[in-house]
Amino acid sequence: TSRNRCDAVSPSSSSIDVAELAEIDWDNIDFGLKPTDYMYAMKCSRDGDFSEGQLQRFGNIEINPSAAVLNYGQGLFEGLKAYRKQDGNILLFRPEENAIRMRNGAERMCMPAPSVEQFVEAVKATVLANKRWIPPPGKGSLYIRPLLMGTGPVLGLAPAPDYTFLIYVSPVGNYFKEGVAPINLIVENDFHRATPGGTGGVKTIGNYAAVLKAQAAAKAKGYSDVLYLDCLYKRYIEEVSSCNIFIVKDNVISTPAIKGTILPGITRKSIIEVARSHGFKVEERNVTVDELVEADEVFCTGTAVVLSPVGSITYKSQRVSYGEDGFGPVSKQLYTSLTSLQMGLCEDTMSWTVQL
Ligand code: COI
Repeated sequence: TSRNRCDAVSPSSSSIDVAELAEIDWDNIDFGLKPTDYMYAMKCSRDGDFSEGQLQRFGNIEINPSAAVLNYGQGLFEGLKAYRKQDGNILLFRPEENAIRMRNGAERMCMPAPSVEQFVEAVKATVLANKRWIPPPGKGSLYIRPLLMGTGPVLGLAPAPDYTFLIYVSPVGNYFKEGVAPINLIVENDFHRATPGGTGGVKTIGNYAAVLKAQAAAKAKGYSDVLYLDCLYKRYIEEVSSCNIFIVKDNVISTPAIKGTILPGITRKSIIEVARSHGFKVEERNVTVDELVEADEVFCTGTAVVLSPVGSITYKSQRVSYGEDGFGPVSKQLYTSLTSLQMGLCEDTMSWTVQL
């Protein structure tokens, strides 16, 4: 039922001049920072206006020890990716969505934010300045990390007097060490990621520091990551430390509804739209932890993670495994549709990509 027309792309049609590429081992890139050439910085003064930003060499930044971001966590980040196509063109995936999400998060964190246009133009400039670091087609992507930070000094608890918007990039491969193989999750019963009325629904830096302890414990036991439950009833699944979660049962796809404690993932939203365009029923609702036992397939989505199949979930010492190889047919279909779109292997029927 696919509406996407996928053209076969022959490797020989590639027009990349290898001399344009940075000299790294493109066959073995993981999700780690590789320093690139340039980063972008834009300051915002007390009056809330971001001035002209500029590209500068990638490197350390100087920051006041009393900066609000260091002392009180007044900071947000974003994540998006650029892909290099066979024809040499560069594709960004839905950058305006990241700009809008940063603006929503900034409102919650009492910060001024760049306009959508400023954000997107800054992303484009940063990607183009680091073009030689965008992996060849099929070898990965350029991960783009915008930051918004209260960099002005505070001592008493208050919003910072001034702010810095910064973007750096790094070529990346697969997020999980499993690659595209299924990951194994453990449901966390003691720690919680988010609370009603808290900041779980925005991409503030503190949400990520808060999950490190549970994640470390899970990894020490051999799990890939942690699946969080709601903190009130410990009954509804919320999300994984670094991505959203979906279940598939009888070809109906369900994912926890966005209600303040769940990060509104752009890949989450895109997968919902792609699935619906393929004729699937998708429900955004409360999903109970018991439904994991009955599910046919489970998968995670995120910018870094893309779509990662879940091979097993352990809850209170009970382990449930999914399918033969853990990468079920619905997950596979959605993975292929989404990544073909992102990488420019298909006609962009959704008008989601921005070509540089
Ligand atoms: C992303 O998927 O871009 C994120 O921001 C998650 C992060 C933990 C890598």
